Amino acid sequence: MDKVRFAIVGVGGIGTAHGRAMQSVPEVELVGLCDIIPQKMDAFEEELGKPMKKYAKFEELCQDDEIEAIFVGTPNQVHVPVILSAVGNGKHVMSTKPLSSSKEAAREAVEAAEAAGVVNSMSLTMRFSNTVQYLGKLCRGGELGEMYYARARSIRRAGIPDWNLGFIEAGGGAFRDMGVHVLDSSWWLLGQPRPVSVTGVGGAKFGPVGKHYWDFRQPPEEYWSKYDSDDYAGGIVRFDNGTGLIVESFWASHQSPEVQIELFGTEAGARLSPLTLYKTVNGAPHDTVVDIKDAQVDYARRIFGHFADCVRNGTPEEAPLRHGLIVQEMMEAMLESAQTGKEIRFD
Ligand SMILES: NC(=O)c1ccc[n+]([C@@H]2O[C@H](COP(=O)([O-])OP(=O)(O)OC[C@H]3O[C@@H](n4cnc5c(N)ncnc54)[C@H](O)[C@@H]3O)[C@@H](O)[C@H]2O)c1
Repeated sequence: MDKVRFAIVGVGGIGTAHGRAMQSVPEVELVGLCDIIPQKMDAFEEELGKPMKKYAKFEELCQDDEIEAIFVGTPNQVHVPVILSAVGNGKHVMSTKPLSSSKEAAREAVEAAEAAGVVNSMSLTMRFSNTVQYLGKLCRGGELGEMYYARARSIRRAGIPDWNLGFIEAGGGAFRDMGVHVLDSSWWLLGQPRPVSVTGVGGAKFGPVGKHYWDFRQPPEEYWSKYDSDDYAGGIVRFDNGTGLIVESFWASHQSPEVQIELFGTEAGARLSPLTLYKTVNGAPHDTVVDIKDAQVDYARRIFGHFADCVRNGTPEEAPLRHGLIVQEMMEAMLESAQTGKEIRFD
């Protein structure tokens, strides 16, 4: 099949990681780059060793007929403007997480992408990791029985990003950056039940005072004085089938760093890291640790190979932007509940 011709908007950490990943997938070809900092495009073009079409403005890149699909790797606040421009020009689109910096913008993006009839997807590095996919097969195969409770957390000790203001300004924050991964993955493992309410607490204890930035680096006050987002949040999401999910994320803390999901089922329990299945056999605990290799190449094939299949063969997208919207609604409800001190209920 013809390769799907991709361009990347936002040639930073996640944009270049996806650009490198594309190199191992025969069904896609990277042909264009867009960034407001030209040196970033030049450096990545040199690394790739082949000429790229380069644009400073995403609106212009989105009008290029040679480009079929756009990967969105800009800061959160710029995801939806790029998505709207891309789908408005009939381009297929893949966004990094979170879908957006607000639920209103997320909804606008989903409605526009669906109306345009293009392939639209979330690139979810955690959901499509080998360990979460393996656990997903166990859950869907009924190994855990009825899943009635889950806990998920993503905890850093000193991990507030210090390289892009988009992370710490309004619309950024720890929950949209890290909480999003464990929330999306655990919601997916639970079978994507419908959320009915969220109660949370959260705030910012380190970021606004210039402490516990990435790897204990000390950014200048000029950077951290612009802090306007959460650096921790946690609470419970209640679903329509009675399942509860406790979810927490911390960019900074005095705790041991951890990324964890724990599932409670009537037949078995499971833990993501290390991947463990807990059962009762002959009246005694019977626990199995599963050794899964988490190769990045599998992730690249999984998301880009599948995306190309959706574009060329009309296969339904496994992780459409609509999933990103539902996760965004849960995240925004958690942050709103933390701010107002009230439970947020979904219609
Ligand atoms: N595992 C993951 O899924 C994962 C990991 C890291 C980051 N992310 C997400 O990726 C996004 C970017 O994070 P990052 O760490 O790569 O940041 P980054 O700062 O390294 O990269 C962002 C890039 O976007 C560019 N940019 C900003 N505004 C732009 C515009 N209007 N047009 C074109 N380019 C523009 C910046 O110049 C920069 O090069 C965030 O939304 C973050 O949540 C996802």
